[in-house]
Amino acid sequence: MGEIQPRTCAALLLLALIQVNTATSVHWGYENDGPSRWSKIFPLCGETRQSPINIVNSKVYARQKIGNITMIGYDKPITMKIRNNGHTARIDITRGDVFITNGGLPGKYKLLQLHFHWGSDNGKGSEHTINGERFPMEVHLVHYLTSAANVGEALTLPGGLAAIGFMFEISEDDNNEYDNIISKLPQITEYRDGDIFSVPLAEFAIGDLLPNNPCHFYRYFGSLTTPSCNEIVVWSVFKEKINISERQLSEFRKLMTSEGGHLQNNFRPVQPLNGRVVQANFNVADTDDWLEEKENDGMEKEE
Ligand SMILES: *[C@@H]1O[C@H](CO)[C@@H](O)[C@H](O)[C@H]1NC(C)=O
Ligand SMILES: *[C@@H]1O[C@H](CO)[C@@H](O)[C@H](O)[C@H]1NC(C)=O
Ligand SMILES: [Zn+2]
Repeated sequence: MGEIQPRTCAALLLLALIQVNTATSVHWGYENDGPSRWSKIFPLCGETRQSPINIVNSKVYARQKIGNITMIGYDKPITMKIRNNGHTARIDITRGDVFITNGGLPGKYKLLQLHFHWGSDNGKGSEHTINGERFPMEVHLVHYLTSAANVGEALTLPGGLAAIGFMFEISEDDNNEYDNIISKLPQITEYRDGDIFSVPLAEFAIGDLLPNNPCHFYRYFGSLTTPSCNEIVVWSVFKEKINISERQLSEFRKLMTSEGGHLQNNFRPVQPLNGRVVQANFNVADTDDWLEEKENDGMEKEE
């Protein structure tokens, strides 16, 4: 959240609140201090609309009218920096305006940061699962509502953040679009506290990291998957996957936590749906019978 420039006392106070909110000062992790204990310190993590979830295709409501997400500026090279925050490799946008809108999103959202979740082996790593299937890595691109005064306010609004997620699959060949990132990982092996330890990345377009023309996604309402677990996130989990080679993934597994252990398996287990409905902008069953044609009360509840 280093984008915020405190200008007034009010802004400073807000900044202090955000620090608490995003728990930069309170320790949490994925091992002894793991997800089952988060709610002891961060009560929102024990609420009922949490992320990630297991997406079950047979229970997804396909809705043609959701349409495509419009990605603005994803094709333009921008300035970014990367750091090991002890929980993930996090990339912040330092200059460049990248937005998403449409696709059933309740507004226009600006890209703030992206980060990764991965496993110690290829059988796990993703946060979301699809029909119970886990993937070796998942990337999250976190956007905040542009009509919010700032990121801090967005964290307090329903739908204040829009996160898009992509799963990875292992490919024979390297995915060279990731060279800009992976070549910097050896410089952030160890966790260092503070934004000043960020390493600049060579400029590239965010879209280069993604599959070509990604357009099929699942949609549901949930939370941040890390403390403080605020239930303010519109999730779009894409069907199209990103290639990464075993060698490239092994570079992520070399990063270390604040305790000096391996930073891997940094994913939260799936959380109960508790009656939430998962929608999709594509026909999951791959037939012409759009489920939206049927009457369904539970679906409308989500709108
Ligand atoms: C969404 O994008 C895909 C791929 O670009 C395109 O084929 C499709 O027609 C688009 N759908 C809508 C509703 O615009
Ligand atoms: C991803 O990897 C698979 C298998 O290794 C390959 O067939 C496919 O062409 C790759 N896709 C892209 C977009 O590079
Ligand atoms: Zn994430």
